Amino acid sequence: MKIAIVGAGGFVGKEFIRHLSNNHYVLPLTHSDLDITNVQEVRRIIFNQRPALIINCAVLGVDACELNPSLAWSVNVSGAENLAGAAAAIDAEFLHLSTNYVFDGNRERGSFYTLADTPTPINVYGRTKLAGEQAVRVVSPKCFIIRTSWVFGVGKENFFSTALRSLNAAKKICAITDVWASATYVRDLVARAIEILFHHHYSTYHVVNNGLCSYYDFALEAACMFKMSNEELEQLIEPVKLFEFRHNAARPRYTPMRCTVSEEIGLAPLRDWRTALAECIHDNGCLNQ
Ligand SMILES: NC(=O)c1ccc[n+]([C@@H]2O[C@H](COP(=O)([O-])OP(=O)(O)OC[C@H]3O[C@@H](n4cnc5c(N)ncnc54)[C@H](OP(=O)(O)O)[C@@H]3O)[C@@H](O)[C@H]2O)c1
Repeated sequence: MKIAIVGAGGFVGKEFIRHLSNNHYVLPLTHSDLDITNVQEVRRIIFNQRPALIINCAVLGVDACELNPSLAWSVNVSGAENLAGAAAAIDAEFLHLSTNYVFDGNRERGSFYTLADTPTPINVYGRTKLAGEQAVRVVSPKCFIIRTSWVFGVGKENFFSTALRSLNAAKKICAITDVWASATYVRDLVARAIEILFHHHYSTYHVVNNGLCSYYDFALEAACMFKMSNEELEQLIEPVKLFEFRHNAARPRYTPMRCTVSEEIGLAPLRDWRTALAECIHDNGCLNQ
């Protein structure tokens, strides 16, 4: 199958390329190959190449969106719509990535967001990702929307990779104790997305590892896997509250997710995030790559 991967230079895009390249003809499109905000270029490349599937991993990130809402709209809404429209015009399937940040995070502790919950985002990123989902659904009849959350693995400068690298090098980190979500190993995300594609059941999915954690829980678990003593843990992981961090964008406090649609089509929940983290550490060593 010919598959175009857009946002191919990013974290999740690279993982899709790695998974799909052996068995498919993959067309990787980085930002410099294709700017999705340029509808003429989107149509020119997609109509020339005629892939059977387009995977959209392009995004403007959380804090960048808050600093530039107009660019956020162009990339996360219009860009997604441009791609989905081109996919529909050539009858291709369309896979679009979205996020737990479409939810406000105010629901009761111990519960999980499902498709039955109405998204009410609290920052520009979340609002544009939600509007992007809606735009994609309108123009592309063959679309899969996959919401994921706190993706960890090699190849992204975020809290999770920094925490793993720093702890492994015995460097101190600060970890937020009062924000919780589902964590997702990038390999599990992509493997499950590919399983979903096989089913051709066009819907919105929540693809995350089982369980939930705070940033602090994640760091503690990693430190335990690095076999640190309690004394070392206390020295290296400083617990902090969300308000002590100066983010550009507000963060939803509690957004663990569950996938009712996967369950309906017979896909079991993904393994627990701790098991996935153990494999991530085992496979990637100190993550200094
Ligand atoms: N990573 C997570 O923890 C996480 C959590 C929840 C949901 N997601 C979702 O997963 C998807 C992939 O995220 P990611 O972590 O892989 O993001 P990423 O590492 O930031 O990659 C995004 C890619 O999009 C490219 N891009 C930006 N603007 C573009 C444009 N106008 N045209 C074409 N490409 C453009 C970027 O290129 P430049 O860098 O050159 O601009 C970058 O290579 C997104 O939909 C995101 O919302 C991710």
